[in-house]
Formats: sequence, structure tokens, C-alpha cells
Amino acid sequence: MKILAFESSCDETAVAVVEDGRRVLSDAILSQADMHALYGGVVPEIASRKHVEAIAGLCDQALREAGITKSEIDAVAATYAPGLIGAVLVGLNFAKSVAYALSVPLIPVHHIRGHVAANYLAFPELEPPFLALCMSGGNTLLVDVKTYTDFALVGATRDDAAGECFDKAARVLGLPYPGGAPMDALAQQSAGGVYELPRAKVEGAELDMSFSGLKTAVVNLAHNAAQKGEALDRAALARDFTRAVSDELVPRTMLAAQRCGRKVIVAAGGVAANSILRADLQAACRREGCRLYLPPLRLCGDNGAMIGAQGYYEYLAGARADMSLNAYATRDIDDPVVSYAR
Ligand code: KG4
Repeated sequence: MKILAFESSCDETAVAVVEDGRRVLSDAILSQADMHALYGGVVPEIASRKHVEAIAGLCDQALREAGITKSEIDAVAATYAPGLIGAVLVGLNFAKSVAYALSVPLIPVHHIRGHVAANYLAFPELEPPFLALCMSGGNTLLVDVKTYTDFALVGATRDDAAGECFDKAARVLGLPYPGGAPMDALAQQSAGGVYELPRAKVEGAELDMSFSGLKTAVVNLAHNAAQKGEALDRAALARDFTRAVSDELVPRTMLAAQRCGRKVIVAAGGVAANSILRADLQAACRREGCRLYLPPLRLCGDNGAMIGAQGYYEYLAGARADMSLNAYATRDIDDPVVSYAR
């Protein structure tokens, strides 16, 4: 079954063709990051406009690179939530029009479910159940993935996402947007141990996280140093910051896996590209006898193939949308807006 998949929730326009949820026939992506870098972060209005400009061409490119024509498409999948509302609307409305014109089913896909499914493309043997640590620019979640379409949220950030925290910390260190990858490179240059940064605890909710205090601490450190005319050890700060993010994420992931009775852990989302986090997750999983799946770097960030992968399993479970489907800026991963017609 060939699915034409659309992703436009943030600053990547992406269209892919995926066969049977596991085989990528094409994966066309156009990043707008350079454009937003001028402003130090994503400008929603610009993101929407750039999606409009790019999406038709990317759709043609995805079909051409897959070596198929429109008539060979069996279904259309699209991200319907969460994301920048104007941005999500562009991909979703384009997907609706394609599904309508081709008279094929329209499959709604939750963006974070897509990030988890990116792993299915890289690891043919991977199947639920497992515990997923999802960390992207806008979301940070711990999810018990019981089946391909049955997700239970077990922990989440109460404020900022890990990626947002990386991006803001990077900005005060003078690094370009998006800041995660440059922070990663900078952190490699130091062993750290210079700056004391806070670790948050959410009272009564051991699996929930908070990154806003850490973000503020880095901002304050940088401002205080600037006011006193002191030089920052930027590499050490990047390292100590990443260590603090890891301390927030890795122990909670292991605890969540234990509580859910899972021995398989899957990482997902843009922040899963971080080399220190990857090493820390590997070490923790080795220590506790868990099998760890880390997506290859090209599948950590937003892409259309992951929407095609999850779309396939949503299709099998009976998820269908009609032309009334709306886009949502926020939507829980375990609260599908479209019912499953089994
Ligand atoms: O999943 P993603 O591509 O987009 C969303 O769905 O949000 O995640 C983007 C986030 C950005 O905040 C970016 O700075 C971060 O992933 N990121 C990283 C790294 N590469 C990308 N964060 C830490 N280390 C990295 N190597």
C-alpha cells in the first residue's frame, strides 16, 4: 500500500511516499531554517507562507522520486496536530485536496506519533510495545506505546520542551538557530563541571519534567557575566547545560520503562540527535538491561516519511478523516481527534 504523506507542522515542508509503513520510496524535504535564523526563531507567519510556496512542488518531487504517478497512490496521510496552527493548516488542506481529487482515504496523523514511527523506517524488527522518549522543538513526552495506535502518556514537560530549551540557551551563547546541533558541537569541546545548573522536580509527578528554570538559569548566567564584563566558558556551559537536560530526561525514561514494564526504549524527535543524550541513554539502557533504539540522525528531525509510516498503521487501525478535519495547535498523543472505524 502506497501512502503519500504530508508534514508541515513547523519549519520543514515535507512530502514522502511510503510503502506498507516501512519502505521509503521518496522523502522530499525543504527546510526554512535559514529564513527563520535571521530572527533567532521560527516566525509563524513566515512559516505558513513558505509552506504555501513549497508544497505543490515538493508533492510533484515526491511522486517523481518514488517513480510513481498519482493514480498509484492508495491513501493520503497528513499531520493534523500539534504544531504552529497556520503551518499545520497548509499541509493538511493540501493533503485534503489531493485525497479528494484522487478519491482515496485521508488519514490523520499526530505529529509526535510520526516521530516515534520514524524508528520503524530504520529498524524493521521494531514493533510495539515499548516506551518512547519523544523530544522535539515543541514537545517532550514519555509515552507507553502499547500498540501501533494505542499510546498512553506517562510523563511530559510542564512548561518548555527540551528542544526549545536548547534553542534559547544556544541563542544566549551566540549560536545560530536552530541551536541544538551547534550546542552539541560546542559541548564536545569541554568536559564541563564549571557551572551549577538546576534540576527540576515536579512534586507528586515523578515522570513529569520542567525545562523553564534551566532555560532561565542559563539566560541569567550569561546576562550576569556580560554585566560584570566576565568571559563565559561557553563550551563548559554548553556541556553542563546538556548534562542538566540529560539528567532531566534519562533517569525519568528508565523509571517510566520500569513502571510500564517495558524493556525496549525508543528515542524520537529532533533532540534525539544529541550525541551526549544518545550516549547517556545507551549507558543507562546497558546498565538496566534494556534494548535501545536511537533513530538515525536523518530521521530525528521533521520529515514526511515518518508521517507515511505512522499513517499506514493508523490506516490499518481504521483511522479516517473527512473534509471537515481541522488542524490543532495542541492535541494529546493519546487523544486522537478522529475515531477509529473498526
Ligand atoms: O523534531 P524536530 O525537528 O521539530 C519539531 O517537531 O519540533 O526538533 C527540532 C528541535 C530543535 O529545537 C533543535 O534545536 C533540536 O531539535 N535539535 C537538537 C539537536 N539537533 C536538533 N537538540 C540537541 N542536540 C542536537 N544535536
